[in-house]
Amino acid sequence: MLTPAIKALFCAFALSATGLAQAAEPITIKFSHVVAEHTPKGQGALLFKKLVEERLPGKVKVEVYPNSSLFGDGKEMEALLLGDVQIIAPSLAKFEQYTKQVQLFDLPFLFDDIHAVDRFQMSPAGQGLLKSMENKGITGLAYWHNGMKQLSANKPLREPKDARGLKFRVQASAVLEEQFKALRANPRKMSFAEVYQGLQTGVVNGAENPYSNIYSQKMHEVQKYITESNHGVLDYMLITNTKFWNGLPADVKPVLEKIVGEVTTEVNKQAEALNQGDKQRIIDAKTTEIITLTPEQREAWRDAMKPVWKKFEGEIGADLIKAAEAANTPQ
Ligand code: LMR
Repeated sequence: MLTPAIKALFCAFALSATGLAQAAEPITIKFSHVVAEHTPKGQGALLFKKLVEERLPGKVKVEVYPNSSLFGDGKEMEALLLGDVQIIAPSLAKFEQYTKQVQLFDLPFLFDDIHAVDRFQMSPAGQGLLKSMENKGITGLAYWHNGMKQLSANKPLREPKDARGLKFRVQASAVLEEQFKALRANPRKMSFAEVYQGLQTGVVNGAENPYSNIYSQKMHEVQKYITESNHGVLDYMLITNTKFWNGLPADVKPVLEKIVGEVTTEVNKQAEALNQGDKQRIIDAKTTEIITLTPEQREAWRDAMKPVWKKFEGEIGADLIKAAEAANTPQ
């Protein structure tokens, strides 16, 4: 027969043992994404895993799921909010349900090049956007570059009228839909995992992506032409679930924040070289002609697409658009 005092002792011991077991259990961070590993985002996710497991051994474990293998881009945001994944990095085109301001990045011909994008992202206005979804439970940790988008199709696109009537795959973005409507082309929203098949079967005739996505998804095998238009940007926001992030132990969160900073620097340093390498691989594959536009031809694309800005100025905010344009001039 156990006396109440001994029973209490047993209970205390059992509780502290459970506590110990819990403390020993590592925090698991699932990082899900939709692209291949040999891309800026794919490499960034792997570097994040490596650094976290080196610096927080036994405390934090990172599982990376590339190529839409856990969640496709239609589902990953919902999964983040439900706590089924802890980090994702959707392209900036995929946030319109959560914040209208981030639509800014989809405006065609807003940024002259990736350096201007970078300057804007680092500015107070750009950094402010990372916090624009906290009331929805989403915290932006950083921007990761992929790069400037190129138009691809199965016919040569030299002038805006060449796109007329063609079906273009677009990400889930109202701005990008309008961009193709402005060319009198037909936009069709489609998740990233379906693009290759969509192009192969003719459900769509063209698309827009940086070279690294085109090459790693083998889109060049089903697209005869790429026009080097650099007409827009495809970058990412690395995001986490606000409640999860704020609930991290005090000896873990600052380490993760530092790692995010280091990985971001590395991704953003490597992204352009990765895209240029994949451009060369596409040239070497000889499947696809890369069309270079004359300055006049590029101007014609700008004139055709830019009216889209006015349609979204109210939702995005004229001041934010101005701040982004200002980033085209280095200070
Ligand atoms: C796309 O859907 O085209 C891109 O957002 C894919 C990606 O994450 O780079």
